[in-house]
Amino acid sequence: MKIFIDTAKIDEIETAFSWGIIDGVTTNPSLIKSAVDELKSKGEKIDIKTYIKRILEIAKGFPVSLEVIGTSFEEMYREAKILYEEFNKIADNVVIKIPINPSLEEKASYDGLKTIYKLSKEGIPVNVTLIMKVEQAILASKAGARYVSPFAGRIDDYLRNKIGWKDFKKEDYYPEKGIQFKEQVLDDEGIVSGVDLVKKIVDVFNKYNFKTEIIAASIRNSRQVREIALTGCQIATIPFYVLSEILIHYKTAEGMRKFISDVVPEYKQIFYK
Ligand code: G3P
Repeated sequence: MKIFIDTAKIDEIETAFSWGIIDGVTTNPSLIKSAVDELKSKGEKIDIKTYIKRILEIAKGFPVSLEVIGTSFEEMYREAKILYEEFNKIADNVVIKIPINPSLEEKASYDGLKTIYKLSKEGIPVNVTLIMKVEQAILASKAGARYVSPFAGRIDDYLRNKIGWKDFKKEDYYPEKGIQFKEQVLDDEGIVSGVDLVKKIVDVFNKYNFKTEIIAASIRNSRQVREIALTGCQIATIPFYVLSEILIHYKTAEGMRKFISDVVPEYKQIFYK
């Protein structure tokens, strides 16, 4: 299983890469905003091109997804070419993120598929984002996507919102098997959780031997990472705070305290004279 880091913050990317566990980076306009806002709050000036180039250098040898900002084929194709031409020469690791359906309303725009197809034909790797349905993932793969990114956490948000559940935190666990509500399990057209969405995409892609890799995205907690791993999904893109959460366990900390307090001078003198 590959682990990508889902952030545009250079300090987080650098730190996570220094642990040897990271196989790629995913960004999006919201993650870039969060990185830029943080730098601005510290009074730092940002040269965004230099900033992105630094990310690409840190991640050399591993894919970095950069997203377009337009909503029409013409805009997205043009932006994708700009991103690829400007940045891929730095470390040859740019992947272009294109939304499956760039419409701002709940209606179909085919411009996402058209852009995915054209870029893929030209050999530009595409990560198709905002995947909320198995069927969307199938179309993205058929159009030539290198990666599809189902948003697990946002499906869980959607299911909670359906029943007017408001008092949950973004990082709260949502059961893979779903939640019972009024004698039936809450679902979005048969999908009972974000992990269930990922699992079903994995099943379909395996059935038909699709070559597109699946990046489970919008991951919010440690347990969700385990459940995603058990689906057989090739990649999980994980925010830094979830990587930290993975390391924490009551018994790990307790065990550490015991080991440290049990160190005898005879053993200690190996290390310290
Ligand atoms: O990779 C997608 C991700 O950044 C979205 O995460 O937590 O905002 O749903 P989230």
